[in-house]
Amino acid sequence: MSPTTATAQACANIAFIKYWGNRDDALRLPANSSISMNLDGLYAETTVQWLSGPGEDQLVLNETPQSGDPLRRVSAHLERVRAQLGTSSAANVRSVNNFPTGAGIASSAAAFAALTAAAVSAAGARLSERELSILARTGSGSASRSVPDGFVEWFAGDSHETSYAESFAPADYWALTDLVAIVSQAHKAVGSTAGHPTATTSDLQSCRVAGAQERFDRCRQAVLERDFATFAEVVELDSNQMHAVMMTSRPSLFYWLPESVLVMCLVRQWRAEGLRVCYTLDAGPNVHCLCEAADATEIERRLRTLAGVQDVRSASPGPGARVVSVE
Ligand code: DP6
Repeated sequence: MSPTTATAQACANIAFIKYWGNRDDALRLPANSSISMNLDGLYAETTVQWLSGPGEDQLVLNETPQSGDPLRRVSAHLERVRAQLGTSSAANVRSVNNFPTGAGIASSAAAFAALTAAAVSAAGARLSERELSILARTGSGSASRSVPDGFVEWFAGDSHETSYAESFAPADYWALTDLVAIVSQAHKAVGSTAGHPTATTSDLQSCRVAGAQERFDRCRQAVLERDFATFAEVVELDSNQMHAVMMTSRPSLFYWLPESVLVMCLVRQWRAEGLRVCYTLDAGPNVHCLCEAADATEIERRLRTLAGVQDVRSASPGPGARVVSVE
């Protein structure tokens, strides 16, 4: 393989129906299927250069050379890429996030989707979108959903080959806005990767998983019909159920802050007043306020009046992972 370089971009995504817990942690085969929307303008841009032979992989993240866990995780992913493409070369990886880490926007989804797309392209290989999604999934589960465009479903599947994501509506299908109310920039104590294995220690996880397909179907249909009332009800229910599992796991994971709860309560009140907005939270305290774009200005204005809200980030539905240059 001649040394080549490629750069890819991939957006972060926000899950409407959550991925929490794996049936197989090593392969990242999730306990249930999930649904998300890519977040336009919030992306990772990753350049992979394959060297001419084996050696140590290198990772520079946001201009800072990495060692330890971040490098190990990227190198383990490159190992799976090497196995799939039949190469043994080491790689230099440079990645930049254009959104602050710790801003309540999962960076691993964007990072591993961009890394996978760049690594494959730099090797001169061509994989289908499905193959890229499967490979990205093994780096970070939610990265499988940052590969396709717009509104995305990730089928849990029952094997490595059957667990992949695909688009079920393009980015311009529904003018939704995700307003992320930042209530804390602190780095979370327990990240998603450490959190997933705790899911089965909660008595509520089997119950959450048992109802997940029904919520998935209802959410998918609500997006396709642009039915905000149904969408809001199922998105909040699904987020609450995931956090109920987290809170009742052993050890218990508790991601909400008082400010998170205040925003959740206000969002429900604003919806009762007629604004089309609902909330969802990932493994952190920041509140994703999903709203109809037409109501976004008013909701952002209200969020910014709250003392506990430090900042508000805004994103509309975004594209899938794309290669932006190959040398
Ligand atoms: C709460 O995909 O970040 O954001 O597979 O270990 O990288 P790993 O976990 P990750 O988990 C995301 C969990 C979540 C819900 C979701 O995005 O579906």
